[in-house]
Amino acid sequence: MNDGSAAARAVQPAGNKPLIEARGIVKDFHDAGREIHVLRDLDLTVPAGEEIAIVGQSGVGKSTLLYVLGSMETPTAGKVFFEGQDLFALDPVALAEFRNRRLGFVFQFHYLLADFDALENTMMPALIARMPDPQARVRAKEVLEFVGLGDKLHRRPAELSGGEQQRVAVARAVVLHPRLVLADEPTGNLDPHTADEVHELFHVLNRDLGITLVVATHNERLMKRMSRALRLHDGKLYDERQGP
Ligand SMILES: Nc1ncnc2c1ncn2[C@@H]1O[C@H](COP(=O)(O)OP(=O)(O)O)[C@@H](O)[C@H]1O
Ligand SMILES: [Mg+2]
Repeated sequence: MNDGSAAARAVQPAGNKPLIEARGIVKDFHDAGREIHVLRDLDLTVPAGEEIAIVGQSGVGKSTLLYVLGSMETPTAGKVFFEGQDLFALDPVALAEFRNRRLGFVFQFHYLLADFDALENTMMPALIARMPDPQARVRAKEVLEFVGLGDKLHRRPAELSGGEQQRVAVARAVVLHPRLVLADEPTGNLDPHTADEVHELFHVLNRDLGITLVVATHNERLMKRMSRALRLHDGKLYDERQGP
């Protein structure tokens, strides 16, 4: 009898859905009486496990797209689905919980808190999720070891190099083991060698932790290593790579 396995499949429908799916995204800004059409009926489907680079000229809307995908910015029109769930249909509490637990965000500037050490900065999302302090501390230590900073837990941001600061920002983004990490030009401020090391870290997150990545970048080397590169142009995405 295979009724049992059919029933088992029926209760796990999310497994077949893309991790994140954007449909018909429009984003307009009103700036000094002028309307700017940044995203124009944009679609994007990201299966779990992918590593996507978003490229495009400065001002084209890469950050806006990442913010919409991460639900930090509400689109003028269109929907974003995370494992089939319409994000903008969630109430504010559920949406905040989604951002805290399911999503990691890494910015160009690390935004670490200057008065707190690497461990405390990394613990923040876990404490916000109301994880007990000792447990959050253990989790943060593990993830800092994972990003290669096990010996610098008690350094403050000013006592770390640019690459190390960005590693702490990555550790903070993944401390709650999110499914998705969105990164906005995460190595834009780093020298090429340090940038490569941080890129390698992103690949390790993908390979070893199964984290799906969407990264806005100008970095050609990073772009080439991602499973897909999409160019944002005139408010839509185009596959950057020509045919085989
Ligand atoms: N909050 C805002 N208000 C008005 N205009 C904005 C706002 N955020 C972004 N823009 C405009 O939207 C366009 C896209 O910006 P952005 O997404 O930051 O581009 P990119 O990240 O590709 O450089 C730019 O013209 C920018 O000035
Ligand atoms: Mg930007």
